[in-house]
Order: sequence, then C-alpha cells, then structure tokens
Amino acid sequence: MFESLKPLPHDPILHLMQAYRDDPRPEKVDLGVGVYKDDAGNTPIMAAVHEAERRLLAAETTKSYVGPAGSAAFNEAMARLILGERNPLLAEGRTSVIQTPGGCGALRMAAEFFRLCRADTRVWVSTPTWANHIPLLSGAGLQLQEYPYLDRDTMTVDFDAMLGALEGARQGDVVLLHGCCHNPSGADLTFAQWQALTGLIQRKGLLPFVDIAYQGLGDGLEEDAAGLRYLAGQVPEMVIAASCSKNFGLYRERTGALMLISASGTINTAATSQLLGVVRGHYSMPPAHGGAIVETILTDDALRASWQSELSGMCARILGLRHAFADALAPVGDFGFIARQRGMFSFLGITPEQVRRLREEHGIYMLDSSRVNVAGLNERVLPQVANAIGGVMK
Ligand code: LMR
Repeated sequence: MFESLKPLPHDPILHLMQAYRDDPRPEKVDLGVGVYKDDAGNTPIMAAVHEAERRLLAAETTKSYVGPAGSAAFNEAMARLILGERNPLLAEGRTSVIQTPGGCGALRMAAEFFRLCRADTRVWVSTPTWANHIPLLSGAGLQLQEYPYLDRDTMTVDFDAMLGALEGARQGDVVLLHGCCHNPSGADLTFAQWQALTGLIQRKGLLPFVDIAYQGLGDGLEEDAAGLRYLAGQVPEMVIAASCSKNFGLYRERTGALMLISASGTINTAATSQLLGVVRGHYSMPPAHGGAIVETILTDDALRASWQSELSGMCARILGLRHAFADALAPVGDFGFIARQRGMFSFLGITPEQVRRLREEHGIYMLDSSRVNVAGLNERVLPQVANAIGGVMK
C-alpha cells in the first residue's frame, strides 16, 4: 500500500531547524525558526510558567479527561486576553472559545469548520504568509486565493494592492489576516488600515479569520490586538486563532485557542457544537498541561503581573535588537525598515544564493526567503552577522 508514496519535499522551517542542530560549528547563529531567545541565546522557561507548573504539580489529583473544548477557565481567560477585559462582546453571548493543540490546531479546526459551513469555501491568504498556513488550510479541502501584501521596495504593506485584490472576493469568502507581527514580513497594518479593511469586509460580506500568534511581542498586549478588536466590534461573524507558543514560551506544550464570534447567541451555540464535533473527529480533546499553565497565570494577579512584565521585557528586547540590527547594517545598505517592523521576523531582501552562502560559509541560518528571526540575535553575534551579510552582498 505504501509503495506508491514519494518522500515529501522538506518543510522549509523544520528542515532548517534540524540543519542548524546538526551543524557542529560553535560560532553558528540561528535566525531560522521563530523562537524567542535571550541575550545568552537560550529560550528560557518564563518565571510565571515555572511557578504555575510547580503549583499545578503540587495540586493535581487526576489525569481524567477534560473534554473537547478543553478547560472552561482557560477559554474564558483567553477570550479576555484576546478581546480585552472590558470588551462588550464578552457579555453578549455571541462568542465561544475552545482550547486547541497550539495555534496550528486552532487553524486546522477552523479550516475544517469552514468546510463544514460551506464545502466550496475560499480562503484569501496574504502573499507572503506563514508557510504552514497553506497545508493547514488546503489540507482541509479549502480553496486558497492570494492577496498581495508586501511592497518589497519599501518592505511595508502594499495596502492598495491588498484592497484591490480583495475587491475580487465573493460574499462568504474567508480572509485570513495576521493579528500582529506579520509572519514572515514583520510589516503590520496600521489601525487606520484595519478600519478601512473592516469597511471592505462589511461591504462585501466576507468572513474575517485572524491568526494572532505573537500578541505582546509587537508593541504590547493591548496594542497588538487593537486592530482585531476593532474589527470584532463591527462584524457579525469572525474567527480568531491564537497561540500561546511565543507569548508564554510554551512551544512544545502545544497550547492555543480558537474563538468563534457569531451573529447571535443561538447561532453561536449551534456553531460551537458543530466545531466540537469536528474536534471530536480529529483529536477528541486537547492536551491539558499547557492550557492549565496559562489558566493559572492569567487567573492569579501576582503570576499575571510577573508574566506581563517578562513579556514586556521580551518585547522591548526585540525592538531594541531591531534598531541595533538596522544600525549595524547601515554601512551595507538601508535596512531602516527592520526597525520600523514588528514582531520576530523581517525579510533581509537578499537572494537565496546569498542566504546559502551565509549558511555554508558563516554558519548563519535563515529561511531561503531571507526571513530572519530578529529575536535570535544578541549583542555578541550582531557584528558577526552584519559583517557576514555585508560580505555576501558585495
Ligand atoms: C515560525 O514561523 O518559524 C514558527 O511559527 C514555527 C513554525 O512552526 O513554523
């Protein structure tokens, strides 16, 4: 039965992660996979996560099943984190959240849910978008359409081109948006652009689907959600996929959430029951541990304060690195856009051949697209990286 199968091409991000691990050179630098690193190059466990885990282990009395929606307290806390504590939507009964295995689980369950709503659902994705958006959505049988997003001359959002393409969307089409910290470009919509886009979505009857995987790592927890919160306040229906991988540093614990916003409470009850049916038919129930950590942190004032302060520090560090990186590259060219972008990623705008040389000659790893994880830099490696980039660009 298996003999007809050919090996899949490598996943660009996971393959690079392995190649970096296998590289014996001590001076190697990992700017590949989107994982936060501190000044020493480590991806630490956040202090609040450590403490929450300690408390959970001490208090845990059972490993019995929870259920397809995961923990109700986690879901409630995530709704507040995403929409904001005082969001009127929280009291309207039109929203529901389920706990998912990471942001990927949320994205895939949303895709399966869209197909259930309408078998011929089309989803518009930005060009470029996160590489894994494509298999997660198309694997559920959805048709993908692309909208141009990045102006590669200015490395800013080509908003006119984006709106122009979305004018071609049909009523009921889904539009996938990055809530903040666009992956892979780092170019985000301004608040005014979120407002204008909301107008188009309303006029054309599109369903907004927001992926927010980096809340708190762009400009701050509230700032990063401002665009999606505005949109959520204007439209009858919306779907939001959130990840706790980056902002809680829970990568391998696979912790995420999926939110439905429906036109009425009655519709939301039916929609959520269908969504839970989809979950039951895929993985039955999400893993509990990561969600329990997040729930413990978000529902305890002291742990929450500790988490927020550590997250703010991470956010400030990334912003600082963005400026330092742009400055270090100034003799090579105008990389000022890196300082103006947000989140972990930016494109350097160099060729795949230059990327290959950086990897092979200097042990500096980034995606072939020249996407770099700015959070993988530190003061020690910055001069080495900037010199190497200057060298291959000569
Ligand atoms: C990335 O874009 O590097 C991260 O989101 C990790 C992943 O799973 O691809």
